[in-house]
Amino acid sequence: MTEHKDDPRYALFETLIGCVTDNKPHEPFETSEIDVRYYTDDEWFKHEQETIFSDVPLILGPSAMLAEAGQHFTHDHTGKPILVVRGRDKKLRAFLNVCRHRGVRLADAPEVSRKPTFTCPYHHWTYGLDGTLTNVPVEDSFPDFDKSCRNLVQLPCEEAHGLIWVNPNKNGTLNLPDFLGNIANDLDNFGIADDHFFQQTVQTRKANWKLIVEAFQDGYHVTRLHKNTVGGFFMDCVAAQETVNQHIRSIVARKELADAIELPQAQWDFRNHVSFAHFIWPNTIMVFHPDYISQMALYPQSSGETVVVHSCVIDSKPASDKEQAHFERGFDIIENGVFNAEDLHTCEQAQIGMDSGANDTLVVGGHEGGLRAFLNICEQSTGDFDRFIRQPNAKLDIVDLHDTADSR
Ligand code: FES
Ligand SMILES: [Fe+2]
Repeated sequence: MTEHKDDPRYALFETLIGCVTDNKPHEPFETSEIDVRYYTDDEWFKHEQETIFSDVPLILGPSAMLAEAGQHFTHDHTGKPILVVRGRDKKLRAFLNVCRHRGVRLADAPEVSRKPTFTCPYHHWTYGLDGTLTNVPVEDSFPDFDKSCRNLVQLPCEEAHGLIWVNPNKNGTLNLPDFLGNIANDLDNFGIADDHFFQQTVQTRKANWKLIVEAFQDGYHVTRLHKNTVGGFFMDCVAAQETVNQHIRSIVARKELADAIELPQAQWDFRNHVSFAHFIWPNTIMVFHPDYISQMALYPQSSGETVVVHSCVIDSKPASDKEQAHFERGFDIIENGVFNAEDLHTCEQAQIGMDSGANDTLVVGGHEGGLRAFLNICEQSTGDFDRFIRQPNAKLDIVDLHDTADSR
């Protein structure tokens, strides 16, 4: 492995080849049951918001979205109004999208837009791309006012590994090397930083955010749910994953993996022999398709509702109308055919089922190891997961979720 020491994808690829050649699963089989209230309970949802989402680096999109100075977008899915902008110095910055005069929302750009400055609609206070308050109309009506103390409030923001990272907590930090560990190498090795931003879609789906993460860490459904779209490209139930800090490096075998078994490592193809589908804590799924990279960010709004932002990058800008049409067709299959009509639709159907009270628990089996890995990772932030996990076929002892730990 030494020649590939900076590319941790090789070891997981080798693990996957081992699964095929030895005809055995990545992990020993095990059954567990999860209390459905893990996905439906509003108090638990609030607890997750506080313990997981209140102070954490989030990926707000590929940095190629904002290629030029003055390009910016506004983002309202984290509960904080955020403005992300590329400055004249080429640096990316994130601000609370709030005028420092009387607090009006400053910019409105749900899609990427371009401006030289930001002027508040109310009284026209104007800010530069770096957040500096540059103009106050009738400034002499504010005696003793120090304009320099009223620049936009900045959020921790960094452009790294081809992605825009923001902590919506103004007092928070990013510290990406510690946060990411060596999953950062994968982001670099897949070359996101050199890619072209292709498209983004935003939608609200009626499903708990964790159900959606789990759908993308589940090798068990791929050939079944996706049988009419991409299921035929994959081996059945051949998947492996490993956790890196609170992230998951995850791999699923495409049928072409059979050809890779005899090949030297240098010829392993990480986009065509296999598909990687990494989970980046706490709310991003990166799917590395043959021609595209999908960055899907999940913003929980309530226990049963999630905003899904799917951003897609490709190797380079389509060079012709024909190429553009090719990538649009491909994006349509991924976005509408696979994600929307199959994965997200099924998550919504699961949410309906869980809300119905038909089942007290859901069952997790041996080929759903990625799902179990994700639940363990959540536990590191939320604690208290023992309220929800059950031994298989155990007599259900339904605890009161809202008891305090002391009173239990
Ligand atoms: S609130 Fe923005 S200029 Fe007055
Ligand atoms: Fe799927």
